[in-house]
Amino acid sequence: MNTYLGRVAAAAVAASAIAVSLTACGSTDEDADARPGASGDAIKVGLLLPEDQTARYEKFDKPLIEKEVGKFTRGKGKVVYANAKQDAAAQNSQVEAMIADKVHVLIIDAVDAKAIAGSVKKAKDAGIPVIAYDRLAEGPIDAYTSFDNEDVGKVQGKALLDALGDKAKDGHIVMMNGSVTDPNAKQFKSGAHSVLDGKVSVGKEYDTVDWKPENANTNMAAALSALGKGKIVGVYSANDGMAGGIITALKAAGISNLPPVTGQDAELAGVQRIVAGEQYMSVYKRYAPEAAAAAEMAVALAKGEKIDGIINQIVNSPTTKGVPSVLVPGVALTRSNVKSTVVDDGVYTVDEICTDKFRAACDEIGLK
Ligand code: GAL
Repeated sequence: MNTYLGRVAAAAVAASAIAVSLTACGSTDEDADARPGASGDAIKVGLLLPEDQTARYEKFDKPLIEKEVGKFTRGKGKVVYANAKQDAAAQNSQVEAMIADKVHVLIIDAVDAKAIAGSVKKAKDAGIPVIAYDRLAEGPIDAYTSFDNEDVGKVQGKALLDALGDKAKDGHIVMMNGSVTDPNAKQFKSGAHSVLDGKVSVGKEYDTVDWKPENANTNMAAALSALGKGKIVGVYSANDGMAGGIITALKAAGISNLPPVTGQDAELAGVQRIVAGEQYMSVYKRYAPEAAAAAEMAVALAKGEKIDGIINQIVNSPTTKGVPSVLVPGVALTRSNVKSTVVDDGVYTVDEICTDKFRAACDEIGLK
């Protein structure tokens, strides 16, 4: 059995410490040119994240990876960071700038898994190992870490069926999937379909451009007009940001008894909607183990070391077979387990969730 997840589970508990700033110090221009030594000194890690509209990237992934790189280099590593703000071309330029900057290893969460392949190849040609972070970038990557994304879709689909019960027969669900440029979106969608198909009618289904909540809002308004507001028994939303846009559209149509709506990412606004009973569920993804895996693999690869003892899966991408990977499970988050998930793990305090607006709802579920 792989011990990595067991080991990093403890890191999830330390999620409250993510505000701790990076203790890493910079390397000099001379030593940036040299391969980092076995001591782990002066390792320069290039980190590229895809966007900043979903809270996870700036709030969790970035600080967690910085902290973990600090840990695995004993405070002597350095993270060079860029956020592509959903622009695939900009992300390619960011990779090129990091290659020119002579980073020792890259951690890339691709805006567009296909469009990044050429840059991955350039990094590889420059002798820089590449780790695909969260999304399976195409091209010659050396390693990958993510959640079990097919399973995330199943968790969402099962929760929706549970919430629907007998009502599943009374109408249709609407499916709001993520962006087609994101390979995870395809896996969430197929996982969800594998449990929903045959159990409930899918009245309308959308692939949402760039995962944008406003696009989900527009799509939901269109679905309401096409199907009729009395005919929608539930909504599969692939993430919390879009769930927010969907719930706004449902309310704008005058629906007060909201149907169950799914989500993902356990964003603060999503957790608050869950507490208030507006959103049925989210998928809580412990970012700490994912970030720890990326940092540990990055430092090892930069030093030319093997990562066999770190990985727990082998994954195939459309372009690259046998990618050593660490996949982390996701957990359904509903009104019943807010405390034992995001609160106990230190992701949010009760005070952050239970603001005045949500006080009564928090009391109802005993969240104090
Ligand atoms: C996915 C990611 C999700 C969510 C979404 C929106 O790739 O796995 O956690 O953040 O992108 O950007």
